[in-house]
Amino acid sequence: MNLVKANRESILKAAAMIKAGGLVAFPTETVYGLGADALNPIAVAKIFEAKKRPNFNPLIIHIAKKEWLQSFTEFNDSRIEKLIEKFWPGPLTLVLPKKEIVPNIVTSGNPTVAIRMPNHEVALKLIEESDTPIAAPSANKFGHLSPTTAKHVHKYLGDKVDLILDGGKSSVGVESTILQFQDGDFFILRYGGITKEELEECVGVIKSKSVDKNPVAPGQLPFHYSPNTPLYFYDEKYLKKNKKIGVVYFQKRKTEFEFTVEKFLSLNGDLREAASNLFLFLHELEKENLDYILIEPVPEIGLGKAIMDRLRKATFKHMVNN
Ligand code: TXA
Ligand code: MG
Repeated sequence: MNLVKANRESILKAAAMIKAGGLVAFPTETVYGLGADALNPIAVAKIFEAKKRPNFNPLIIHIAKKEWLQSFTEFNDSRIEKLIEKFWPGPLTLVLPKKEIVPNIVTSGNPTVAIRMPNHEVALKLIEESDTPIAAPSANKFGHLSPTTAKHVHKYLGDKVDLILDGGKSSVGVESTILQFQDGDFFILRYGGITKEELEECVGVIKSKSVDKNPVAPGQLPFHYSPNTPLYFYDEKYLKKNKKIGVVYFQKRKTEFEFTVEKFLSLNGDLREAASNLFLFLHELEKENLDYILIEPVPEIGLGKAIMDRLRKATFKHMVNN
């Protein structure tokens, strides 16, 4: 079994594997990552192979200290320092012009690199001991649900990684917010753990980039994050007696219909708690042999934007086939 509890000993072992060009899955506060030495192109190629990810998708590199940012990116704007002061370590990824040292396979040939410092003791220790930035996408097969526990990783990628470090459930539960800095402006490429409102409070106006035919972030593809069981937004037309149906409500409510399984993202309607349960619940429901899953939309404020972004993409494939 290559799934181990994260402790000093297992982290040192994992760091040695990273240095040797291996693949290690590790916990972060957002979701679990599938990591390799970002400065070793062969090791990075193994990530794409394991995920079956199309090569055009660039990866986020994870660093252990704020000072490392200067080694891999070029920028000259005090607002970047303000952002990292306020939000690092944490679920904010910055897309900045890259330095030569970052291999093209990491950025898919883009002149920019996505970089963040995760807020998780195990991740930070692993990166520090590896003494190199770690390139890591979410540790799921391409297009599938993101993993928020070590077990999720083991189920889908267990035979593809050298080691999985178990550091418990990811506390944020949705991926980092991706913020690009370009020609003096900030653009959100993916909504995530830090809200637009929080960012604007720190550095002023933030713009959104429209989706085009050649998305820079797969988060911008219309489908993603899908469970294997069909997932639809809650609608009465789906309430059929002869079907096994799972339901995920946003908050506590009474229902007449008898569902096979009922879940509540947050009993008292807390969006943070809802985000942290989102992928977890979908993973659980996927195991229940249901005909389909219904999910209730959440209010699109604060973290609700990141949740609804995931849900629109997770339901897309099933909605068009329906
Ligand atoms: O919370 C997270 O961000 C997690 C944990 C493991 O850190 N990672 C994660 O990685 O979600 P991934 O690969 O699943 O998503 C990274 C996103 C992709 O949508 C990718 O296209 C975008 O970041 N990205 C990476 N480099 C980029 C770049 N240079 N320009 C624009 N987008 C970029
Ligand atoms: Mg992902």
